[in-house]
Amino acid sequence: MASSSHLKPGEKGKISVSVNNNGKSGNISKTIQIYTNNPKKPVTTISVAMRVKDRFHINKSEAKEIFNGECKSCHTDRGIGKKGLELFMADCIMCHERGKSAIPITEMQSKPKEYLIKSTADGVTNTSMPGWHLKNNGPLSDEEIESLVHIIKRN
Ligand code: HEC
Ligand code: HEC
Repeated sequence: MASSSHLKPGEKGKISVSVNNNGKSGNISKTIQIYTNNPKKPVTTISVAMRVKDRFHINKSEAKEIFNGECKSCHTDRGIGKKGLELFMADCIMCHERGKSAIPITEMQSKPKEYLIKSTADGVTNTSMPGWHLKNNGPLSDEEIESLVHIIKRN
C-alpha cells in the first residue's frame, strides 16, 4: 500500500508491503513494481527479502534439544545406523553446509583430530553445537564420531 497515489517530483512517500508467508520457509522474497510517469523508466522494481522460520525454529533452543521430541525426526533419526560421510550428510550438513550457521568442513580440516573429536563429542559451549556422544545423552558412539572426524580430515 502506498501513502498517496500521486507524488510530485522530489516528494517522498511510503510503501508498506504485506507478505503472506503461510506454508513458506527459508529465504523468500517479494517483488514490488512501481509505475511512474517518467518516460525513461516507467516501471521500477524493488524487492524485499526475508527469512521465514518454521514453528520448530522460532524459539531459541538449547543445543541438545535437537536430540529430543519432534526435533530428532529431522536432526538425528536419519543418521541412525550410518557412519562417515552418510552420517555427516544426515546429521551435520544442515548446520555445517557452506558455513550456514556453523563453519564448513573445509575450515574444520585444519584443526587437530583430537580437537574435532572432542568438540563433536562434547559440543561447543554457548553455540547450537550439542555434545553428540552417548555419555552426553547424544546419539553417537566413539566409533561413529571417529568415522565423522575421519571424513572431515580427509575431504
Ligand atoms: C522438519 C525438519 C526439522 C525439524 C523437525 C527440526 N529441525 Fe532444526 N533444522 C532443520 C534444518 C533443515 C536446519 C538447517 C537449515 C536452517 O538453518 O534453516 C535446522 C537447523 C537448526 C538449528 C541451527 C540453525 C539455527 O537457527 O541456529 C537449530 C539450533 C535447530 N535446527 C534446532 C531445532 C530444534 C530445537 C528443533 C525441535 C524443537 C528442531 N530444530 C526441529 C530441520 C529441522
Ligand atoms: C544445530 C546445528 C549443528 C549441528 C546439527 C552440528 N553442528 Fe557442529 N557446530 C555448530 C556450531 C554453531 C558450532 C560452533 C561455531 C562454529 O565452529 O562454527 C559447531 C562446531 C563444531 C565443531 C568445532 C569446530 C571448530 O573449529 O571449533 C566441530 C568439529 C563440529 N561442530 C562437528 C560437527 C559434527 C561432526 C556434526 C554432526 C554429528 C555437527 N557438528 C552437527 C552447529 C551444529
